[in-house]
Amino acid sequence: MNLIEVKDYEEMSAKAAEYLVNKVRNSPKITLGMATGGTPEGTYRQLIEDHRENHTSYQHVTTFNLDEYVGLSGDHPNSYRYFMNKKLFDHIDIQKSNTYVPRGDARDIQKECLDYEKLLEEKGGIDLQLLGIGSNGHIGFNEPGASFDSKTHLVTLTPSTREANARYFSSLEEVPTQAISMGISTIMKAKEILLLVSGEKKSKALAQLLNGEITENNPASVLKNHPNVTIIADYKALAAK
Ligand code: F6R
Repeated sequence: MNLIEVKDYEEMSAKAAEYLVNKVRNSPKITLGMATGGTPEGTYRQLIEDHRENHTSYQHVTTFNLDEYVGLSGDHPNSYRYFMNKKLFDHIDIQKSNTYVPRGDARDIQKECLDYEKLLEEKGGIDLQLLGIGSNGHIGFNEPGASFDSKTHLVTLTPSTREANARYFSSLEEVPTQAISMGISTIMKAKEILLLVSGEKKSKALAQLLNGEITENNPASVLKNHPNVTIIADYKALAAK
């Protein structure tokens, strides 16, 4: 794993955006795996700025998001589809029809999971997957204990993940209890992975990833088995290294 140490969230976001822009410029038809949450927001802001200033084009880019809450439709302000549209897609020249997020309001969730995994394969898989990490080591919504063999599947969110994400909702009760998430094996099939880590809340999870054993109890630890992982982490996240 290649570790890039940066000062703070802003520098992490700038570095990550630079990394992504280079990839898109070199491979205009790239398929990107996208993440939501606080971690990539700054990166997305920088991508928008770059698009405005330098006209990097996403016309032929395809994206697949990691996850979506079950029960929320794409126009719900807390859905990850809504997040992606508002924080990135609405501000760049990507074709919305080339952006995929699992449908959290699908009538048959199991079928939606299978269809998503199949579509991803049909489109040739992910070239570069952007990841954040949960303070409990989750990647996507693969919580501790998730099988390393898992494909896109229905997950039950842990209380700690729901609490961490409650900041986006008006109350904890409103946070969905389930989500659709790419599985660990889905994520591991990406040709390349870029993991962003910022802040002291993530320092234990990052230390466990860097120094701990590879175990399903720490989902992120699987990344050590991947041949092409870059981590961009700030000093606070690296404090416990
Ligand atoms: C988001 C996702 C999650 C987040 C993680 C960290 O699509 O899959 O694994 O990356 O929960 O969230 P933040 O960035 O909000 O700290």
